[in-house]
Amino acid sequence: MSTNDTQKIALITGASSGIGAVYADRLAARGYDLILVARRQDRLDALAEKISAGHGRLVKTIRADLVNPDDLAQVEKILATNPAIRVLVNNAGLARLHPIAESSVGDSMTQIALNITALTRLTHAALPAMLSRNKGVIINVASVLALHSLPVSSVYSGSKSFVLAFSRGLQAELAETGVKVQVVLPASTATEIWDESGIPLSALRKEAVMTTENLVDAALAGFDQGESITWPSVADFSLWDKYDAARAELFGATQTGIPAPRYKVS
Ligand SMILES: NC(=O)c1ccc[n+]([C@@H]2O[C@H](COP(=O)([O-])OP(=O)(O)OC[C@H]3O[C@@H](n4cnc5c(N)ncnc54)[C@H](OP(=O)(O)O)[C@@H]3O)[C@@H](O)[C@H]2O)c1
Repeated sequence: MSTNDTQKIALITGASSGIGAVYADRLAARGYDLILVARRQDRLDALAEKISAGHGRLVKTIRADLVNPDDLAQVEKILATNPAIRVLVNNAGLARLHPIAESSVGDSMTQIALNITALTRLTHAALPAMLSRNKGVIINVASVLALHSLPVSSVYSGSKSFVLAFSRGLQAELAETGVKVQVVLPASTATEIWDESGIPLSALRKEAVMTTENLVDAALAGFDQGESITWPSVADFSLWDKYDAARAELFGATQTGIPAPRYKVS
């Protein structure tokens, strides 16, 4: 893929299916050339062909297992060295929904490696070039489970809490720059992640499940409106404002330097 000053590229991880595939379509429609990353090359190729034909954009595919350090390093290098990359969508993610005692440690570590380590490393790789141009966008796909742990989601929820906290810290660090970070918190969305997770999509309440198209269109509408935190399925945004205000109040209340009176040793 050749680059020039006017070319703008979006690199999307986990683009071979679900939410990532719709981000690919929508960002191509917005004039971005694409670098699509995932493990399933056949899916990437089919999507690349469809997007090239439909939107007339250049689409490159990278077969990479982002849990594998060598593959991850390959994508890091692209992010660090291709000056046309304006958008990074950290979307690749994995859910294994079982109680810890019934889960393998390997499944837990793989979720952490993909949902946390890969997202963090790719952000590290992309940021210096974006900062040097004072321009760029990082979209991190978290989950409503960032704020809610189910008896089967300890690791997944924890990994998405990381994505939320990491993104918020980054937003504060970058507040005075032209680099924008949006964190998106989808609720249940109709993708293959469910059948792989141990809870089939068919087991979910149909009315609570969003389509991938609605999810990504809402997330991009949130971005266009300047949101840094986007709750695509939440009608009343003041719920987040109240939650965040309570969080800030609780944090403020921790800054006393002394044990709370209820812990006074008598
Ligand atoms: N669906 C939901 O209800 C929901 C709700 C909240 C948040 N999310 C989040 O949304 C994001 C996208 O998930 P989705 O729902 O669209 O599920 P999905 O259709 O299963 O997509 C997951 C994507 O991640 C890629 N991926 C998985 N393991 C990978 C690895 N080791 N290396 C590289 N790529 C890998 C998959 O591609 P390959 O298999 O080809 O590698 C696929 O493209 C995830 O971060 C997920 O946690 C989803």
